[in-house]
Amino acid sequence: MKHDKAIRNISYIKSVTSTNDIAKKSSEAEAVFVADEQTAGKGSKGRSWQSRKGNGLYMSFLVRPRIEADQIPGITLMVAVVVCNAIERVCGTKATIKWPNDVLIEGKKVAGILTESIFGDDGVERVVCGIGINTNQRFSGELKGKAASLKIRKKSQKMLLCNKVVSSFFKEYDAYLGNGLKFFMPEFRQRSAISGVVTIVEPNTQSTGELVGFDDMGAIIIDIDGEKRRFIAGEISLRGENGYV
Ligand code: BTN
Repeated sequence: MKHDKAIRNISYIKSVTSTNDIAKKSSEAEAVFVADEQTAGKGSKGRSWQSRKGNGLYMSFLVRPRIEADQIPGITLMVAVVVCNAIERVCGTKATIKWPNDVLIEGKKVAGILTESIFGDDGVERVVCGIGINTNQRFSGELKGKAASLKIRKKSQKMLLCNKVVSSFFKEYDAYLGNGLKFFMPEFRQRSAISGVVTIVEPNTQSTGELVGFDDMGAIIIDIDGEKRRFIAGEISLRGENGYV
C-alpha cells in the first residue's frame, strides 16, 4: 500500500492507558492513535513514560510490513529521523539522535520511540511504533540536566507537529519498504549525537570502546581494544563520556 494520499485512519483519544497498547489490539490494517494523556505510558526497557495532559505528544503507529524480524529495529531508526525533521520544521529547533531511539535537543532527551512487534505463524504480523515528545515541561533535579521539552505556544502548533510526524512517517515508511534502511543511514549518521568512548549495556554484560560508526543495517560498531564489535538495537543501553549520551 502506497501512502500518496493523506492517511485518514487517525484516532484522537482524550485518555488511554497507552497508545501502543490500543494500537497492538487494533484490527485495522494501518492506523494512528494520538492521545491527550496516557495513564500507563510505557518507555523502553520496561520503564514508564510520564504522559500527563499538556506535557507531551503521545502517538502510536500500527503498520503491517512484510519484513523479517531483523529489519524491525531499523523502523525505530527511520522514525528517529522522522521525529527530528518534524521538530525542526515545526519548532525550528535542531534535533539529534542518540542511537537507537532517543531524540535530543542540545544533548538532552526530548523524545523517545518505543517499537513493539507481534509475530504470527508467518513471522512479523504487525509493528507498533510509539512516539512520545515532551512539550511545555519544566524539569528539576536530576532530570534538568537530562531532559528537554519543546515550547508549544498554541494547540494548533502541537497539531501541526502531530500532522508533520504522521505525514512524514508514512512517506518515509514507504521509502523504507522500497529502499531499505540503507536509504536513511546517511541522515541518521549525520544526526547522531554520539561520539568518543561509549559503553554498551546488555542485560548481563557491559562493553566499552570507541565509537566507529553505524552500518547500513543500523547496528552500532565499537572498537574494543582494536577489535571491532557490532551491536544491534534491542535491549541495549548506551552511555557516553559526556553528560547524557
Ligand atoms: C523511551 O523510553 O524512550 C520510549 C518512550 C515512548 C513513549 C511513547 S508515548 C506514545 C507511546 N505509548 C506508550 O505507552 N509509549 C509510547
